[in-house]
Amino acid sequence: MCGIVAYLGKKPAQPILIEGLKRLEYRGYDSAGVGLMNNGVIKITKSSGRISVLEELLEPINQAEVLGIGHTRWATHGEPNTINAHPHLDYTGKIAVVHNGIIENYSTLKTWLISEGCKFSSQTDTEVISNLIGYLYAGHNEKGTPTTGQNRFEWAVQRALNELVGTYGLAIVCADFPDMLIGAKKGSPLILGLGENEYIIASDASAIVEHTTQAIYMADNEMVICTSKGFHTKTIDNVEIRKDLKQIEFSLDAIELNGFQHYMLKEICEQPKALNMCLGGRLDHRDGRIVLGGLDKYWREITRAKRIIINACGTAWHAGLVGEFLLENLARINTETEYASEFRYRNPIIDDGTVVIAVSQSGETADTLAAVEQAKERGAIVLGIVNVVGSTIARTTDAGVYLRVGPEIGVASTKAFTAQVAVLAMLAIELGRRKHLGHDVAKFYIDELAKIPAKIEKVLTQSEQIKEIAAATCERENWLFLGRGFNYPVALEGALKLKEISYIHAEGLPAAEMKHGPIALINKGMPAVFIATKCSQYEKIIGNIEEVRARGGRTIVVATEGDENIGKYADFLITVPPAPEELQPLLTVVPLQILAYHAAVLRGHDVDKPRNLAKSVTVE
Ligand code: G6P
Repeated sequence: MCGIVAYLGKKPAQPILIEGLKRLEYRGYDSAGVGLMNNGVIKITKSSGRISVLEELLEPINQAEVLGIGHTRWATHGEPNTINAHPHLDYTGKIAVVHNGIIENYSTLKTWLISEGCKFSSQTDTEVISNLIGYLYAGHNEKGTPTTGQNRFEWAVQRALNELVGTYGLAIVCADFPDMLIGAKKGSPLILGLGENEYIIASDASAIVEHTTQAIYMADNEMVICTSKGFHTKTIDNVEIRKDLKQIEFSLDAIELNGFQHYMLKEICEQPKALNMCLGGRLDHRDGRIVLGGLDKYWREITRAKRIIINACGTAWHAGLVGEFLLENLARINTETEYASEFRYRNPIIDDGTVVIAVSQSGETADTLAAVEQAKERGAIVLGIVNVVGSTIARTTDAGVYLRVGPEIGVASTKAFTAQVAVLAMLAIELGRRKHLGHDVAKFYIDELAKIPAKIEKVLTQSEQIKEIAAATCERENWLFLGRGFNYPVALEGALKLKEISYIHAEGLPAAEMKHGPIALINKGMPAVFIATKCSQYEKIIGNIEEVRARGGRTIVVATEGDENIGKYADFLITVPPAPEELQPLLTVVPLQILAYHAAVLRGHDVDKPRNLAKSVTVE
């Protein structure tokens, strides 16, 4: 949530900030702003709305403005208007701040700063940061002064950070130091890109990779001070630290649209390739084994686990639910999937035999991270299934498996879901093999998993036909998505996709539950999407389809290719190639992603920037 980018170098900062903000726009897009250092004055331009609106307000590029900070916002405190947009200047006009995160004690700090004479103009929590730094910088430091030789701006930032409760990724500049950029991190991601004579601080690597692939991933309670002469990193307790230089692993190409109209469509279509990358080198067909190097040190403990708890949010939670069924079925381990936001505030029972798995595309979701921390505190082994390399969850967990599907930019998650399910399937197969499955059964699933990418390719060829279904149904405001067994989580995911981007109200349900209430909703023409592939509950779900048809509902049925019987139950039919039922979610979710995509486009929505949503939810 919220994207920040900052630049110090030899080039004009403005175009670099704007390009960076566009790359980060998926993190939040209700307002935006930049602050540029111009001859010892911080020039702020901001607006509500998208980066494109901000661009129109900007003055022509000034070659001399080589230091600047920028922000794209997802509002938490204060409505998304121009005043609340970042950067926030302090009351003296000398300090400007862009912030991602939430300052929990802002109200107390604000009251105190007001009593000390500081003026506030916004409703944001961020303005207390700029004002507190400004207040300390101006000399109202009741608790000491900079140590000899310490830069006063750096000192004031460090002192202020020690007063903040909450989370932050920050970039800060001071009008008196036109050659200095400070970044700080706690709880929200922050990366420092190191180019040739230039520094870029950003919320994620996508805003950096165009300029350099050399980066430092900041950790919590750390700050970085950049000047044209070099940079240094330290803790907010003033202890100098050395940070390792890391290589940003993806190329610019991976974050371009490459001819697609939207990132979401690109990422849907990328799924065969993405899954091949995810599965690549991990399926040992000959020995019937799965190779997940990241878990090497922990197989003994995981195999002995009495209970697995999967923690996740949103789409990752749906993948986790498929994982639960896979782990129970193939590995015979008692598994529960928890909403991380609920788990973290309960008093969960975690004993010696419990392994916790966090599933997260971004690796930054605040609730999932908090659940990881809680599980660790209680002594559990915590594994991560994460896409973003070097993300906080990836670094906080004991071990894990990366999805390896490249950056996912569309706010509505697609390729991350299929990869999360694929990783959970690999985990379940390998645990099953180590426990009881036997070589032949394990090998069967491994061989079937390897066939999935090509089968998804086949599903993708039906995009035009699915578009026609969307056109015939997308004016309806209420939908049901129904599935059983392994396809029940897919029904939840299909409903979520439709809600997220087309703003149609959709409910996902286990098909049999429909009779216990939701059936009352069905009226003439109401779209009901059934996942009715060949599986152990096939006959049962046919019964559920009949129940909907009898009440006038219009059925969109996802069925198995070659099923001659199903046509008579479907107003609209979509097929997927046959697959073992445990692996079917990897196929059946794809037409539902495409359906949601076309419905949203037909309804005229910005698919990659759905209203009120953000890709990476780094606040509670
Ligand atoms: C947000 C996104 C969803 C995502 C969820 C969990 O709500 O819009 O697409 O599934 O966060 O994110 P994570 O990065 O932890 O998978």
